[in-house]
Amino acid sequence: MGTRAWLAGVVAGVLLVMCAEASAAGPVTFNKDVLPILQRNCQTCHRPGNIAPMSFLSYETTRPWAKAMKAAVITRKMPPWFADPQYGHFSNDRSLKQEEIDTIAQWVDNGALQGDPNDAPPPIKWPENGWTTKPDVVLNGVPYTVPPTADRNVIEWITLVTPTGFTKDTWVTSVEIKPSELGVTHHICVSFVPHRPGTVYNTFLWVDKQRDETGAEVAPSARKVLLPTSDGRGREVAARDRGNIPPNASNGTGNAEQNISCFVPGRSLSDFRPYNAALLVPAGYDLSWSIHYTPNGVAATDRPEVGLTIAKEPPQRWLIETGNATDPTNFAIPPNASNYAPEPAEFTFLVDAELHWMSPHMHVRGKDMTYKLVFPDGKERIVLNVPHYDFNWQLGYDLAESIKVPKGTKMVVTGHYDNSANNKFNPDPNRTVYFGNMTWEEMFTPFFAITVDKSVDPKKAVKSPRNIGNGA
Ligand code: HEC
Repeated sequence: MGTRAWLAGVVAGVLLVMCAEASAAGPVTFNKDVLPILQRNCQTCHRPGNIAPMSFLSYETTRPWAKAMKAAVITRKMPPWFADPQYGHFSNDRSLKQEEIDTIAQWVDNGALQGDPNDAPPPIKWPENGWTTKPDVVLNGVPYTVPPTADRNVIEWITLVTPTGFTKDTWVTSVEIKPSELGVTHHICVSFVPHRPGTVYNTFLWVDKQRDETGAEVAPSARKVLLPTSDGRGREVAARDRGNIPPNASNGTGNAEQNISCFVPGRSLSDFRPYNAALLVPAGYDLSWSIHYTPNGVAATDRPEVGLTIAKEPPQRWLIETGNATDPTNFAIPPNASNYAPEPAEFTFLVDAELHWMSPHMHVRGKDMTYKLVFPDGKERIVLNVPHYDFNWQLGYDLAESIKVPKGTKMVVTGHYDNSANNKFNPDPNRTVYFGNMTWEEMFTPFFAITVDKSVDPKKAVKSPRNIGNGA
């Protein structure tokens, strides 16, 4: 074999190997390889009208984000997901498999090609107007204009009551909350409440709270304390003694009803249809709203809507959502504490139930939360562990298979808070942090949803030391 022939052979061989690699998988393209991943794992948020600021529905809108996408998936910043995979499987787990991460990375490294349009999967038919469900009934809120700024940047939690217009008992099978101005909407929670004589419809109500210069709520009995500062002059802040919190401090809006659904980052829909369950809304009930807006520099008028699906047949099961078991008078995170553990939140199941959903709620100092079931025979099972809680994502975790919870079972939820300077979200490590609504105060609210047989009185299904389901 002459040199030339040998060289040609080598080149042909190399070419053969390269072609074999390329044609086995083909070059990674948007249409063939990336779009299916985006449809499954990203588009639920990354589409017009939803919470993510950019759309990943088409190549044109996705291409500019290619580099950022690679970085976001490799670091597992996206999709947001915080459950420890050791415990439980969740149907809304959108986290990527390693091969999917590799596919996105290769796509970006090879120039983010579009590929053959014939390779693209059919587009997902996302519901119109930003709804995830196709609501049977839409209830309107009242437009609210959020100013560009506010004193201490605080707009107190607002409550509002609007009529449902339900003239007969109604079985609500899903509740979806859709603000029009996502940028200023911190949360919107709704509950169905009995109509009270004297209820004034469509009127915003809030409690004017006294706040110190940091924005923290000052209880009526507050006193000032001097905190040491590096310049030696000290700084005066309001302080509350442990056990000194007014009874309604965690729920100063007076809205003590059970919230049935909330719009918070990463979650806007409560869907009971997969469980054959519904919420009974008696005729004449009103819709109560708890709304928290945060100014973000530009005036915005929010027009929130609530979309409901309704069952025509009576449901097999009732849905119950709860989560508040913390005594606020016993909750105080000391300055600079890096691993504060409040008293565990404890719930006792008074009837046989099925657990479907959990959603840890803490604020910026929240660090981790673990839900454990303690069965009547003493066996224990961790059902959700969120080892690195991130306040920016209020995710709900939908159990892929519901868990049977026999009567007498306890749910015990533990958590930790980081009030040290190492917590980059901590606005002030030098203060004691009490229970309260605002993000610089703290909450310890392990929301969860269960269903019970329709013969059960939903009010007598779960017991906690403090049976109030309010707060987000
Ligand atoms: C639960 C909703 C949700 C899902 C699911 C989701 N995202 Fe996002 N994503 C957001 C939101 C909201 C933002 C903007 C706020 C932020 O950056 O945290 C964002 C931001 C991003 C950014 C910009 C990040 C940056 O560093 O600036 C990228 C890139 C991104 N997402 C990619 C993805 C990809 C790829 C997927 C799917 C594999 C995905 N996201 C799934 C909600 C989501």
